[in-house]
Amino acid sequence: MKQYDFVVIGSGIAGLTFALKAAKHGSVAVITKRKGADSNTAWAQGGVACVTSDEDSFELHVRDTLEAGAGLCDEATVRTVVTEGPERIQELIAFGLRFDERNKSGHRELDLGREGGHSKRRVLHVQDVTGLEIEKTLLRELDRAANVELLENQMAVDLITAGKLGFAAEDRCLGVYVLEEKTGAVETIRTDRLVLATGGCGKVYLYTTNPDIATGDGVAMAWRAGAVIANMEFIQFHPTCLFHPNAKSFLISEAVRGEGGVLRNERGEAFMARNHPQRDLAPRDIVARAIDAEIKRSGAHCVFLDITDRSPEFLRARFPHIYETCLRLGIDMAKQPIPVVPAAHYQCGGIKTDVNGTTTLPGLFAIGEVGCTGLHRANRLASNSLLEGLVVAHRACVTMLRDQPPTHPARDVALPEWKSGDVQNVDELVVIYHNWGEIRRLMWDYVGIVRTDKRLQRASARLRNLQREIREFYWNFKITVDLLELRNLATVAALIVDSALSRTESRGLHFNMEHPESAKESPHDTLLSRN
Ligand code: SIN
Repeated sequence: MKQYDFVVIGSGIAGLTFALKAAKHGSVAVITKRKGADSNTAWAQGGVACVTSDEDSFELHVRDTLEAGAGLCDEATVRTVVTEGPERIQELIAFGLRFDERNKSGHRELDLGREGGHSKRRVLHVQDVTGLEIEKTLLRELDRAANVELLENQMAVDLITAGKLGFAAEDRCLGVYVLEEKTGAVETIRTDRLVLATGGCGKVYLYTTNPDIATGDGVAMAWRAGAVIANMEFIQFHPTCLFHPNAKSFLISEAVRGEGGVLRNERGEAFMARNHPQRDLAPRDIVARAIDAEIKRSGAHCVFLDITDRSPEFLRARFPHIYETCLRLGIDMAKQPIPVVPAAHYQCGGIKTDVNGTTTLPGLFAIGEVGCTGLHRANRLASNSLLEGLVVAHRACVTMLRDQPPTHPARDVALPEWKSGDVQNVDELVVIYHNWGEIRRLMWDYVGIVRTDKRLQRASARLRNLQREIREFYWNFKITVDLLELRNLATVAALIVDSALSRTESRGLHFNMEHPESAKESPHDTLLSRN
């Protein structure tokens, strides 16, 4: 059995930021199921929303965030994230990250991007590869840090809790079982502070802007361990994912619309003009629903994002990654509109936490996309999530150092070794791939941008069957990364459906045709717990 002062699962902006801070105070393991850089963060194009200009203010950023959140945000959390953001950004700059700058009246200043729902330009960016640059910067720091082990190709299986060891009245997280992909061995790791930073669950949908790792592992593990899960019905669909048979999950950043890109239907009409006063920069839920309606009305496969008004020089300098990727696929964005469709992008709900990442299970913290702090709630303002990752990771570390773990009756109890139900290898991989595909298709068809009670009930019934089958697999065969991901995906899909069924109104990202209005009484969170 291994033991660390802090264990972090996930290696995106939140996990790495936390690890770098915690390593100054004790031993840290960062566990990641692929390579260190395989994270949602590395795919983030837009940037980090943060107040840095004299023309902007904390009040305006707070107001825009609350407005996007459709009445559900926790205002104190919003204020904390917004006002502490600039200090956290300075830390990234001190690590050597260079955000884009521009010349203004003879002096250099940050070049701020604009995205949907923001009343001001406030998005710090590095061209259109902000997340990748942040990831590289943090990994470089991690490499230099003492006290941290980066454990790659290791996947967390389940949390170990005092409750499962018979201390139900004083439940807390005690550690985690981890599968080493290469050997198939499962290791027991003990810690008093376990931090989930596993990102979101985009892979639960057929079409997503997320990388393959986004299988909802953190939410599924926390759920099985008894933590409270909040607001999983609020899945954000990004309006503009590239529509091309050879492009998997390629995002066309909202910043393209921020620089003048206009959405057009198959007839060339700029349809957002009749949908919202902010047109193409309306909040994402509104843009995604408008595109969905256009596609359903016309029977077309996609709509088009037109930025041919801007010069090729500007587009190449501001969006080099998007420009080159489109060009490789035969689309010259300077000359022709880009075909786009909405795709699952961000999980606004997650493991319920406060602004310090504290969950309802003592000893367990959740930071970044996997946690639900109250910043986004019913809808996320674009580019607020990298900021949240930085601020909450910092606060989680401060909180842990302030509140040392209490002495606990299970502290001296030996943690049980992992027991495999059976040692056979999975005989028919086709079953795993079939179930994986079935979940993703049914979530897309029945639990997508526009929902109905009937479709949600259908999805619920199908998912129960699939979960039963997956449970059998789990107990009868040797576990593998594929099987663990499938099990987590099914759990998270069921949590999304259960949450969506229990919200009998439409609000923010959750739109149900049978309950199209927001409820009159005060807005509430959807809270689910196994206990
Ligand atoms: C984008 O670049 O459009 C994505 C930004 C975000 O989701 O915050």
